[in-house]
Amino acid sequence: MVLIRPFEKGDSTTMLDIEKLCPQGNENYAMGIDKKDIIARYELYDNWNVLVAEEEGNVVGWIGWTVKHDPRKEETYAYFTEVMVHPEFRRKGIAAKLDMEAEKNVRDIGSAYIYGYIFEPNDASQALTEQLGWSNVGEFKLCAISVYKKADLAQKFEIERINENDIPEAVSLINSYYSGCAHFVPYTTESFGSYVNKIPAYGLENFWVVKDKGKIAACAGLWDCSVMGDMCFTKIPLTWKVMRGVFGLLGLFAKMPKIPAEGEYFKNYYVTDPVFKPESPEAMSSLIRYFNNFLLDAGRDFFTCQMDADDPLFDIIKKFKPSVDTWYVYAKALEGEPPELSPLYIDIRDLVL
Ligand SMILES: CC(C)(COP(=O)(O)OP(=O)(O)OC[C@H]1O[C@@H](n2cnc3c(N)ncnc32)[C@H](O)[C@@H]1OP(=O)(O)O)[C@@H](O)C(=O)NCCC(=O)NCCS
Repeated sequence: MVLIRPFEKGDSTTMLDIEKLCPQGNENYAMGIDKKDIIARYELYDNWNVLVAEEEGNVVGWIGWTVKHDPRKEETYAYFTEVMVHPEFRRKGIAAKLDMEAEKNVRDIGSAYIYGYIFEPNDASQALTEQLGWSNVGEFKLCAISVYKKADLAQKFEIERINENDIPEAVSLINSYYSGCAHFVPYTTESFGSYVNKIPAYGLENFWVVKDKGKIAACAGLWDCSVMGDMCFTKIPLTWKVMRGVFGLLGLFAKMPKIPAEGEYFKNYYVTDPVFKPESPEAMSSLIRYFNNFLLDAGRDFFTCQMDADDPLFDIIKKFKPSVDTWYVYAKALEGEPPELSPLYIDIRDLVL
């Protein structure tokens, strides 16, 4: 008999062990994470909730979420961060039960809808959410750029860490870039500072601006997401395995991108709030090159950019020959019509695996 109860601190160690057994994906392509703290991702938010499932006194799964509020629409909605079930306890309805309890909880506090992101190869998760009445309402791209050689920087731009006087101009660029995107609440100078500074290993000291003749033409942050855990691909597609072999050989003669082996842990950085003036795509391109060089000096292998499929940033990033993954946006209305979540602003905190 499954018991659903609130998370307690003492559950953490078991949950960390279970998470290592729960890569997200299918038998050909899946990724996992090795965390030190199961709750760290939740502490990025102002509020969070985790319910665990217990079988005969043992934790066998959990679900977590955070409730968000859009003051312009006066709308409350919830992000379902994850649902995990120990492999030996699957297909017994535990995830469905956890989901239904969580739904009841957020419905009771007036949430209009719930949403979540599902990695394209994660067939089980898609089947589960569809069975529970969620629908696929969009997708976004996660583009991983391999850091392996220095990039040339265009001389015409000045790239520097943001200083206090630049914040209003950067905030205004971010606000105009994402205006009209679902989930985007325009920042004020203060709210931008507190959002960025609340995220460990991010903060305003990791936010850069690109200036063209003294004006900000592009800006973005860089978040060392490895503070949340090291990632790995537990399954990689055959084409990657072949490329790994080829790059390994060519790497004897020239610098080549790194392709992690199955099960090899690596550290990831996210590019956060990457925006640019429509007339200055080359300013954004320069910033990506700058990040490449910065991370090369820091001895890192990858950084990742996330974007709505229609974001003009995609055309810039494509030129860096990234490895592109698709993530589906799933949602379920708790009252009324399903939400319109495209184009979408991606809250970087939501992307912790
Ligand atoms: C996805 C996951 C949570 C499902 O847990 P579960 O407890 O086995 O799911 P349930 O037993 O409640 O499944 C309910 C329904 O979802 C669907 N479903 C669940 N797993 C499925 C699978 N592997 N293949 C096809 N359908 C599946 C089925 O319709 C199932 O009903 P049925 O068993 O009567 O056919 C589990 O596979 C898991 O932990 N995966 C790894 C972590 C992960 O990817 N989490 C989701 C993203 S955070």
